[in-house]
Amino acid sequence: MKECNKKNLEFYLCIVNNLLKIPQKIAEFCCGNGELSALIDRNHELEKIDLVDIIEVNKLPKNLKLIKSDFELHLDGVDSFKPEVNTLIISVHPCGELTDKIINIAIESRNSFAIMPCCYNSRMKKYDLLNPPSPKKLHYLSEKEYYDTFRIQYAKEKGFNVIKCQINPKITPMNNVLIGIPN
Ligand SMILES: C[S@@+](CC[C@H](N)C(=O)[O-])C[C@H]1O[C@@H](n2cnc3c(N)ncnc32)[C@H](O)[C@@H]1O
Repeated sequence: MKECNKKNLEFYLCIVNNLLKIPQKIAEFCCGNGELSALIDRNHELEKIDLVDIIEVNKLPKNLKLIKSDFELHLDGVDSFKPEVNTLIISVHPCGELTDKIINIAIESRNSFAIMPCCYNSRMKKYDLLNPPSPKKLHYLSEKEYYDTFRIQYAKEKGFNVIKCQINPKITPMNNVLIGIPN
């Protein structure tokens, strides 16, 4: 495992340690090679892990073999999996609009989420907000902060407490982590 990716996942483990109500289910969207789920499984007793992606990435089978908890792999994409209540939703670097879809899945299922977005671009969802963030606040922000500010506001208006953490940008420049907990 590359050192930067390892640090990234360790940071995630800290977040999960704080959010998880044990025993609980976890759904990892855009799981890639499944390293994060394998790491969390090593550190927690979990009821179930659902891993969601659109393809089976090379190292996924190897990491799945390490998982001791009950798990299920869903390879039909984010739209095909609806988490049950009491599932912690996690995702590292779901590209562009996938972050928006995962936030909506968390909102609809009333589940806590911790998502580290990536690939900010103009195709992303334009949220229909009742109270848009202050233009002053948005004026000088990067595209990354602009979109994530909207995402945070959107989830707040849907009844979530939301905070943004940042991991060291040397680990990854796409370093925002959006954490939401239903009110
Ligand atoms: C940037 S990678 C991140 C992978 C992994 N989370 C990590 O941090 O290494 C994005 C992942 O999203 C997956 N993906 C792309 N489109 C998807 C979709 N519609 N539904 C679910 N996963 C998708 C890709 O196959 C890939 O594994």
